[in-house]
Amino acid sequence: MACGSTFSGTQPLTSCPNCGGLLDCVIPTNGVTRASLSVGASRRLMQSGVWKYRALLPAIPDDAVVTRFEGNTPIYFDDRIADYAGIASFGLKHEGENPTASFKDRGMTVGVSHAVSVGAQIVACASTGNTSASLASYAAAAKLAALVLIPEGKISSGKLSQTIAHGARVVQIEGDFDKALSLLRELTERYPVYLVNSVNPFRLEGQKTTVVEALDQLDWRVPDLIALPGGNLGNTSAFGKALIELTGAGLIDKTPQLVTVQAAGSAPFSAYYESGWEEYEPVHAETIATAIKIGNPASVPRAKRAIEFTSGFVPNVTDEEIMDAKAVIDRVGIGCEPASAATLAGVRKLRQQGMLSADATAIGILTGHVLKDGDATVKYHFEGDGPMANKPVSIPGTLADLERVLSDALHG
Ligand code: F0G
Repeated sequence: MACGSTFSGTQPLTSCPNCGGLLDCVIPTNGVTRASLSVGASRRLMQSGVWKYRALLPAIPDDAVVTRFEGNTPIYFDDRIADYAGIASFGLKHEGENPTASFKDRGMTVGVSHAVSVGAQIVACASTGNTSASLASYAAAAKLAALVLIPEGKISSGKLSQTIAHGARVVQIEGDFDKALSLLRELTERYPVYLVNSVNPFRLEGQKTTVVEALDQLDWRVPDLIALPGGNLGNTSAFGKALIELTGAGLIDKTPQLVTVQAAGSAPFSAYYESGWEEYEPVHAETIATAIKIGNPASVPRAKRAIEFTSGFVPNVTDEEIMDAKAVIDRVGIGCEPASAATLAGVRKLRQQGMLSADATAIGILTGHVLKDGDATVKYHFEGDGPMANKPVSIPGTLADLERVLSDALHG
């Protein structure tokens, strides 16, 4: 992206050999129409909500494609969500309904397929939990060895259990995600280990399809906003690239504004945006939303391009705002993990700050399933005094006790 060098897609590169900068896949979109998005997808691949958009993806041979039929996720509309955000309509596209319960599967199918196509023996990532769960699953499907670096004690047990169960070699390191990723990048520069973190341009190609599928589902009626949480900023980068390509190919006539929402304690990209792109400073990350607890995102230049191209916003929200928005999403029966709820909290905040009009329409991306981080949910409801807390009652176990509970429920 920085120096303009080009390389063949048949190499496992995750940074530019000339300048060390980020790499972008170049996908020829000339002549692609809405009707031809699936050209080249076999019946098997049409079952995948990623590979059904074959015309926008790298040309990986069919026999190398490792798919768990990811994608095809629903968009839920609920007036209580739109009311909470303070805008006319707010659809929630639930990427937590992917095979390993997060959006990572969309990128992983392309990343691991590329790894297979270039003959990789071992695939690796650093992770706050979801990438590792997804990689472990796809590597197992592909019969490849997987190596995962995680910050010890800082990922949720749900994500850790998936990663272990699917057979990845899990290495817990002292320190945070940022340290784990920089350590792994050193390793992959020296050894033939295929890196699937979102610095890998092939992974982002799969993640692009979230936006394509959302617009397809909306019959190409483009919303004003697409909101998502921002951590390492791979998804923001991928969404921006999707919108650049869809615009370039003439598939959309309006560009939705991207809203990348960061947690206040892990918000270096938000601060960069607020400085008018003048000052970028990595931070020591803190937040209850462990998925986005990242202080030095790897994809900053790509994500900046995405926000600039879409005239987007990069707000940040407190942990309290995240957990209250999560409680709202959970309470209407949809549910998500904490990081995902930043989308709703961020749009609500922009509206409260007068940055959005009341008739705005939005799609928010729920990046992970409610069961990914049960501990955070239980803590909010058992221990917190948040407005949405739903604390269970405990009773000794007689019918009289239970009748009292019923009477309270009936009479408030
Ligand atoms: N939401 C969830 C649930 C995530 O797991 C992540 C990232 C993000 C949002 C942020 O996406 O990094 O593309 O900006 N999780 C990574 C992981 C870092 O290792 O699972 P991003």
